[in-house]
Amino acid sequence: MPRKAASPLINPPGAPAKETGPVTVPEFLSAKAQGRRLTMLTAYDYTMARLLDAAGVDGILVGDSLGMVVQGHETALGVTLDEMIYHTKLVARAITRSLLITDMPFMSYQVGPQQAVESCGRVLKEGGAHAVKIEGGVRSAAAIEAVVNADIPVMGHVGLTPQSVRRFGGFRVQRDEVKLLVDAQAVEAAGAFAIVVECVPAATAEKITAAVKVPTIGIGAGLGCDGQILVTHDMLGLFDDFKPRFAKQYADVGRAILQAVETYCKEVREGTFPHAEHAFR
Ligand code: KIV
Repeated sequence: MPRKAASPLINPPGAPAKETGPVTVPEFLSAKAQGRRLTMLTAYDYTMARLLDAAGVDGILVGDSLGMVVQGHETALGVTLDEMIYHTKLVARAITRSLLITDMPFMSYQVGPQQAVESCGRVLKEGGAHAVKIEGGVRSAAAIEAVVNADIPVMGHVGLTPQSVRRFGGFRVQRDEVKLLVDAQAVEAAGAFAIVVECVPAATAEKITAAVKVPTIGIGAGLGCDGQILVTHDMLGLFDDFKPRFAKQYADVGRAILQAVETYCKEVREGTFPHAEHAFR
């Protein structure tokens, strides 16, 4: 699209070409075999997705963390399927290279395999996602299998599954190693092409990674996974209602926004903006 090519931010003159693409589901699988670590981040809108895609991230997740970092709720439980499809459409317009994966929200697949196939089908058909993410191990295996059989690639998610927050009694590290291994293997056997492993001890994540052939994508799970994912709002310092210990902050964009807006307000109030170059004769 010419609009993308014209942006000096995304395509600065003389900048080296980014990773080639597009990234596909089979490439996620071969990355593990080749020992290439996968990078993933979340996005919920066109502008952010365009930046992540241009920066060369392998996978962009439209996470149901949307409920917290965009909608301002305490959990992701209220996010609807229609909202996930809407945000997937925004992100899909920006993607040129990354694999686009959409989180299936609470109660869009738990009723059973048929509901799961119908919901995931909508996310691909209407939203434009390349794949979906479904939380849960053994308990979600039948749904994952049905969705994969409908030719919809599924990323699994074990460990701290945020949609189980009420059962867990909070966002807690998951330590039942035997259960975690059984869950990951059930998700792999059901046909998932990758598995997010969230908030488990690093040694357990390493064992899970060794036990499955598909790539594990860690978040709060140490270095032993095949790739990593973070919530973009956490890593950019855009969201501070709740800061998980594992979320390294790579930039302070929130502070930059505050300073820019304060300067703008000051200049408008003082009558020093707009300058001559921002006005028409
Ligand atoms: O919703 C989300 O952003 C997620 C990631 C934290 C893995 O599920």
